[in-house]
Amino acid sequence: MGRLIVVSNRVQPPGDTGDGAVGGLAMALAAALREHSGVWFGWSGQTVDEYTGQLSVQRIGGVTVATVDLEEQDRLEYYNGYANRTLWPLFHYRVDLSAYERTFSEGYARVNARFADALTPLVGPDDFIWVHDYHLIPLARELRARGLKNRIGFFLHIPWPARRLLITLPDHRELVAALFDYDLLGFQTEDSTGAFRDYVRTEAEGSIDDEGVAHAFGRSARIGAFPIGLDVENFVAAAEGPVAQAEYERMRASVNGRDMIIGVDRLDYSKGLEDRFLAYEQVLHDHEELREKVFLLQIATPSREEVVAYQEIRARLDAVSGRINGAFATVDWVPIRYVNRTYRRDELAGVYRAARIGLVTPLRDGMNLVAKEYVAAQDPKDPGVLVLSQFAGASEQMAEALIVNPFDRAAVAEGIVKGLGMERAERIERWTALMDNLRKTDVIAWRDAYVAALIG
Ligand code: ADP
Ligand code: G6P
Repeated sequence: MGRLIVVSNRVQPPGDTGDGAVGGLAMALAAALREHSGVWFGWSGQTVDEYTGQLSVQRIGGVTVATVDLEEQDRLEYYNGYANRTLWPLFHYRVDLSAYERTFSEGYARVNARFADALTPLVGPDDFIWVHDYHLIPLARELRARGLKNRIGFFLHIPWPARRLLITLPDHRELVAALFDYDLLGFQTEDSTGAFRDYVRTEAEGSIDDEGVAHAFGRSARIGAFPIGLDVENFVAAAEGPVAQAEYERMRASVNGRDMIIGVDRLDYSKGLEDRFLAYEQVLHDHEELREKVFLLQIATPSREEVVAYQEIRARLDAVSGRINGAFATVDWVPIRYVNRTYRRDELAGVYRAARIGLVTPLRDGMNLVAKEYVAAQDPKDPGVLVLSQFAGASEQMAEALIVNPFDRAAVAEGIVKGLGMERAERIERWTALMDNLRKTDVIAWRDAYVAALIG
């Protein structure tokens, strides 16, 4: 059997403690490749004056990591442009934020062609290729154009949007048609898979057969939901290790008997942070008895900072957190501790464990690994409560969390209050069910199920 070649825009070498770039994709792929010697190909994150296609190759922990530099124009049109100003907002149901420009499409096509040029010489005849996420939808088409006959699969880490939203994208047909150069299309949820099927049937006038194979644009691709999992064993070990323990003790001392509510997110408008702050404000407003007894620690790492929508959400969060703190803080209590730095994974595990509530309320999210990390980090004898958005992909698998509609401020506030008051027996019961499922559906199971479907 050939090697597994993983391709993604962002590459994070296996063994990285996660104190640099953040995001669910890199975390999961690093874990998925760790026990599977293979190749990970993508963008170095660097730009050069003129594109050369020069590969930088390193061996890290059994994995060959190969990257290319892009040009400044690529970063503007492909990464900041088509990927993060056109597709990301649209696929997260923010048509209002989705901008379409021809130069973005051109940059997207150009970088996918460049990736294909750089990758093709690395591929042996028996290798199988697994392409990740919205940056690289046309990659298979480019690889096929260069003569590759290998099995090629695609996995989308973000939601597949409802048809009526997708058709607002001027080149939606070309984008979807390009997916049919893959052998296997994987989505996070049944919801996304269903939305894709709907597009195939209604918009592309194609069909889905009894085997789950989609036929459209004169070609076929197998489709299915493969919900991504967490590197559970590793995360549990991290939560019980010395760094997490120290961080846990430090947090316990600093919370001073108060209940901590934790939020951890990339600073992204899809994460619903402003609504989350407002729901928490509602709790403080309605429940005088809870003031000074709880606080919210929101860790939000700046992301995609050159894109205006991200600058705007950052400014809004500064303003809203400042206003709430101004209104409710006392001499020795600040209701929201709002932190913009990145944590190491083991530190983060300790922080999660010290929190009574994990507050995960994205307005739309492909999966959301933070929800899973929060659960995995808990003390089995005294676990906290997960309050989870129904619009996170994770909610399809985590029914024992307190599931809330993040657009309903009062409902999120009720979830927080209910979580704070939940008896230990109920917390243990819910947590045990969540944890059993996390173990059964971890990142290794995800990888193995996907790869088996791709090869099979
Ligand atoms: P997304 O992929 O959209 O960022 P996920 O919740 O799936 O959302 O994944 C986020 C990942 O990034 C998680 O593994 C989380 O621990 C990590 N992360 C987010 N913010 C931080 C932070 N401030 N410090 C360290 N890791 C972070
Ligand atoms: C999400 C996307 C990933 C992306 C990550 C971080 O998880 O699905 O493709 O890598 O966010 O975003 P960034 O733009 O920093 O790579």
